[in-house]
Amino acid sequence: MNPQKKMNESTSLLLNGGYEQKQRTDSVSSSFSLSFLRKTTIATIFAVVSVFVILTKTNQLRVQEDPIAVASMLGWKDDVHYDWEEFQHKYVIIEDDNTYSDEGILYLNESRAFRLLGDNDDFYYYQQGWEAQMNQAYCSVATMAAVLNSLRGDDTSFKLPMDPIYDPFYWATQHTIVDAKHNDCVFNALGGKYSAESVKHIGLGIGMVPDIMNCYLNSNGYVAIPYPANSTTEVEANDLKHIIVDALSDGRSRVVLNYDRGGIGQGGLGHGHWSPLGGYNKETDSFLIMDVAKYKHPPAWVKWMNLFDGVSTKDTCTKLLSLDTPIDWNNMDFTTILSIISPLCIPGYRGFVVVKPKNMYDDE
Ligand SMILES: *[C@@H]1O[C@H](CO)[C@@H](O)[C@H](O)[C@H]1NC(C)=O
Ligand SMILES: *[C@@H]1O[C@H](CO)[C@@H](O)[C@H](O)[C@H]1NC(C)=O
Repeated sequence: MNPQKKMNESTSLLLNGGYEQKQRTDSVSSSFSLSFLRKTTIATIFAVVSVFVILTKTNQLRVQEDPIAVASMLGWKDDVHYDWEEFQHKYVIIEDDNTYSDEGILYLNESRAFRLLGDNDDFYYYQQGWEAQMNQAYCSVATMAAVLNSLRGDDTSFKLPMDPIYDPFYWATQHTIVDAKHNDCVFNALGGKYSAESVKHIGLGIGMVPDIMNCYLNSNGYVAIPYPANSTTEVEANDLKHIIVDALSDGRSRVVLNYDRGGIGQGGLGHGHWSPLGGYNKETDSFLIMDVAKYKHPPAWVKWMNLFDGVSTKDTCTKLLSLDTPIDWNNMDFTTILSIISPLCIPGYRGFVVVKPKNMYDDE
């Protein structure tokens, strides 16, 4: 079997998180079948990278031409996981350089980028609560915490969870909001205790994030609604855009997005990812992605077409059905873990989640 083909299959199950490096999209994977020449080029690069990994890392790693074998040698232990990420990272960059362009990205570390902000953009609400994801799989969790904290009005009518660390102040933290042990709603939304553990390793998809958000939103009169970017026509894509723009222009609503970094020209630093949107600028037709992986990029203005390229990608695991036995993430090898979770994953499109007051929703 062609090693690249196998690599593609073995890594296609990787999700929305810091192990985002391993996530493959349709657009990326389709490029694998482009040409024999390209395959051989990639095979050569793969061999060079393998040798590099072997030479620079421990001598427990032996020369392997088969990526699956490399994956199973590396396993999921944190100390070796970084080797795996590094390896994948190099592998992905090769594709992205040819496939995507970062033309049009404007980072919020330039004064002209600040000038695109509107007076009432959600960016300002996120100033109370937008924090870096605390581990590399928690992009969705940091995103949810940012949204909850951003809804904390001056009148504090929005009831946030309390993390004992900040007692007596209410504040959504990444520790508390996915704590399935102390919250039955979260326990159910995550699919029980064994599945809950998986969040730390593979992140969350659009099939689960709104349910978890609703555990905190519904009692406060808000609701989270998923909008998968499954549009097949330009008209449908425009309808979706209008929903997002309308929500961003309403001070009580928030929008978060689940996207592939490759689509917006940031593929060199990973793939499946979550972040809140901080605003829309009509003149430039761009959206402000407030990246919760603050250790990677500042917030970035991204044109609609690029944003749409990023969200209209497939996630192999939008939702993980309940695991009935625990996964020993530290001791099982990569291929074993994949074989357990693959049958429980529901694939689908990434997309947006709109958070808004319930009564606004009822009116429609
Ligand atoms: C797209 O997603 C929406 C919302 O989940 C769903 O109602 C619709 O059937 C989906 N369309 C396609 C073509 O899958
Ligand atoms: C702004 O951020 C971009 C993207 O991370 C980076 O390439 C650039 O060097 C940064 N510029 C400044 C002035 O820090």
